[in-house]
Amino acid sequence: MPVEIRAIEESELPRWIAALQVPFFVAEGDPGQQAALRRAQYDLARCRGAFDGHTLCGTFRSFPTELTVPGPQFVTASAITAVTVLPTHRRQGLLRRMMAADLQASVERGEALSILIASEYPIYGRFGFARAADHVGLSVDASSARFTHRGGGTVELVDRDVLRNVGPGLYERVRHAQVGSITRNDFWWDTTLGIVDAGWPPPKGIRYVLHRDGRGEPQGYLSYHVDEKWEDRVSETTLVVHELLACTDDAYVRLWRYACEVDWVATVKAEDRSIDEALPWLLEDARAVRQQHRTDFLFVRVLDPSVALAARRYMRPGRVVLDVRDDAGHAAGRFALDAGPDGAACARTDADADVTLDVRALGAIYLGGVSLRTLVAAGWAEEEAPGAVRRADALFASDAAPWCNTWF
Ligand SMILES: CC(C)(COP(=O)(O)OP(=O)(O)OC[C@H]1O[C@@H](n2cnc3c(N)ncnc32)[C@H](O)[C@@H]1OP(=O)(O)O)[C@@H](O)C(=O)NCCC(=O)NCCS
Repeated sequence: MPVEIRAIEESELPRWIAALQVPFFVAEGDPGQQAALRRAQYDLARCRGAFDGHTLCGTFRSFPTELTVPGPQFVTASAITAVTVLPTHRRQGLLRRMMAADLQASVERGEALSILIASEYPIYGRFGFARAADHVGLSVDASSARFTHRGGGTVELVDRDVLRNVGPGLYERVRHAQVGSITRNDFWWDTTLGIVDAGWPPPKGIRYVLHRDGRGEPQGYLSYHVDEKWEDRVSETTLVVHELLACTDDAYVRLWRYACEVDWVATVKAEDRSIDEALPWLLEDARAVRQQHRTDFLFVRVLDPSVALAARRYMRPGRVVLDVRDDAGHAAGRFALDAGPDGAACARTDADADVTLDVRALGAIYLGGVSLRTLVAAGWAEEEAPGAVRRADALFASDAAPWCNTWF
């Protein structure tokens, strides 16, 4: 009997969770308890399973979220997660079938974009996804990190409950300004802060620091834990930043200073940071900050170019005709984009193309994270009219690097 791909039923949620724990190497978390916790959160019509007889051998889920795009403007995107196939059923085309079903359902719902975070880079390009917002991992030599600017306001150690209370509001302020951000719901906060046991408990000993401005208003927070280590009675202790979120420049500086100035701390490590971090520019010796790595994080798949391209804003007024290739067909066609800083229109056209590009290239440039020129060099796009790539790049550029700091 062929493997069946379908939405799961409520009674199948524990098995679905048990199935995804295998490829994700999840050792903790009782599937029954996890199912009870997640039932109210999940739209089961968007939770797919692959069924080989009685064996649930594949999982796939999507949910609607709001993505901040240049402007800033806000677009509903389908966020894909929980993608697994059991090792016993791998490379038999099950992911391909689950993905095809989910993208088709997104198109039918009118979602213009799908987004995801790839466990392994090569998986998703074949389905039209491309890296659109990168991350960096930073390591700071705390002993030589001397700040040229001290930042304003005060910092205060607070309980987790205080952060749970003020964190969402602060994040919303950042999300509304930061291209590449997505929404965080109550469940995200409860599980991330360890208030609700999601099966992957946060490390012990997390500290929360709240920044307040001169008027006492919260403007940012830092959460961290410390890995203490001594060698020959010299501290090699590392402070690990979980999140440093700042609504103001003062909060940004003051919270980084806090992290770098905790006694005994030799190194500060921070993952999932923006590629456009101001930290090195705040230090007497910028080399105290090392970029450990820069990696892809948010992948974008354009499903409806007319809606997606009209939704964002552009650096200047201009027109460009894009001929989009898409093997799956969803985004294929020729589109005239009339772009501008205050609004944009995009519609199918018969006009000559200025640029021909793969749907992956459209996803990659959508948030301004890479230039079309680079993608032409990589063979992902071709210039059809002289100067068109330069013109398109001048439109698509973003005034700030896209950054998504929310795992999903
Ligand atoms: C990734 C995973 C879901 C793939 O499932 P699968 O059913 O084996 O994938 P499919 O058989 O549908 O593969 C479709 C295509 O993708 C390719 N592919 C699948 N997984 C790949 C990987 N990890 N790296 C490179 N290519 C991969 C296949 O070779 C196939 O290529 P083709 O189009 O040239 O034939 C599965 O290997 C898995 O569960 N991995 C561990 C958990 C994980 O990483 N999940 C993804 C979270 S983002």
